[in-house]
Amino acid sequence: KTRLYSGMQPSAESLQIGNYIGALLNWKSLQQTHDAFFSIVDLHAITVAQDPALLRENTRRTAAQYIAAGIDPSESTLYVQSHVAAHAQLAWVLNTITGFGEAGRMTQFKDKSARHGHDGTTVGLFAYPTLMAADILLYDAEIVPVGEDQRQHIELTRDLATRFNTRFGETFVVPEASIQKETAKIYDLQNPTAKMSKSAESHAGIIWMLDEPSVTAKKIMRAVTDADGGIVFDRENKPGVANLLTIYSVMAERSIASLEDEYAGRGYGDLKKGLAEVVTGTFGPIRERVLELLDDPAELDRLLAQNADRAASVADATLAKAYDRVGLLPRV
Ligand code: TYM
Repeated sequence: KTRLYSGMQPSAESLQIGNYIGALLNWKSLQQTHDAFFSIVDLHAITVAQDPALLRENTRRTAAQYIAAGIDPSESTLYVQSHVAAHAQLAWVLNTITGFGEAGRMTQFKDKSARHGHDGTTVGLFAYPTLMAADILLYDAEIVPVGEDQRQHIELTRDLATRFNTRFGETFVVPEASIQKETAKIYDLQNPTAKMSKSAESHAGIIWMLDEPSVTAKKIMRAVTDADGGIVFDRENKPGVANLLTIYSVMAERSIASLEDEYAGRGYGDLKKGLAEVVTGTFGPIRERVLELLDDPAELDRLLAQNADRAASVADATLAKAYDRVGLLPRV
């Protein structure tokens, strides 16, 4: 089976619908045909300030959401990044072959450092992408299913893998991003030209997987549309409606064209009502399952430990090879 790797940050209490559509849904279908590794990247999360107790809790909650959304921890390897020491260790080696300018060109770094200011921007934030490259390269992953915003990081990962292999001999598999074109970017409901993001200033336009169904419905009913009135997919001129149609189409597993047909001549209120039903119909049961899983944190922790052992057995072997290639003296 082809190796697959992906991960998410435990940086909020709940994942948002962009994470679900842009990543989780694809993970769920790909796990059946691939040897899949899915991590909860807590070491990435601490590149911006986190409350320690909350981070711990959000890490468990993120694991519960993976499982409730359909990631099977006996089929796939689902684990916490910091439980496998090799991630931080390989990241260090990759830092030594990454150019300062190269890392500085990452648009996510530029955005985040602009937001956090000179003193809030840490070396950790700068090195975020080399840690991400380590995640992927440790597992010889061939494909990496992510949303559009991660494309540049995967390009860098490819460059680093190739550079290392050229300099030190064939070591890493050069991975490829797997990005679903239509759903790779879900937009904020209040600001439909901006990516929906856990770190947005206002949460009014974010659909959280763990919101109560009534809250989700209310947010959808208040989504920004336009004054034109037609229910047609037009990303340029009707970004709000296009975003609602995209979400609807994925969540209901229906084509955009069939939705345009069904809603032809009807108002935005009808469209939103239909969408709210579909979204709460999917997220309602997921939410219930998450709450159940969180009722037994010891069992969840045990599962994560088991999966981390499985991950470490792969990662440690790759790390040892990389250490050897660069000339680090093996400890006998
Ligand atoms: P994170 O936690 O920011 O996002 C997790 C995944 O969700 C996707 N995503 C979206 N997709 C569509 N529309 C949106 N509005 C939206 N918002 C987020 C992201 O593209 C991502 O796939 N750096 C990664 C985490 C990571 C990783 C890795 C991923 C660490 N190591 C190794 C793959 C392989 C991130 O920021 O995830």
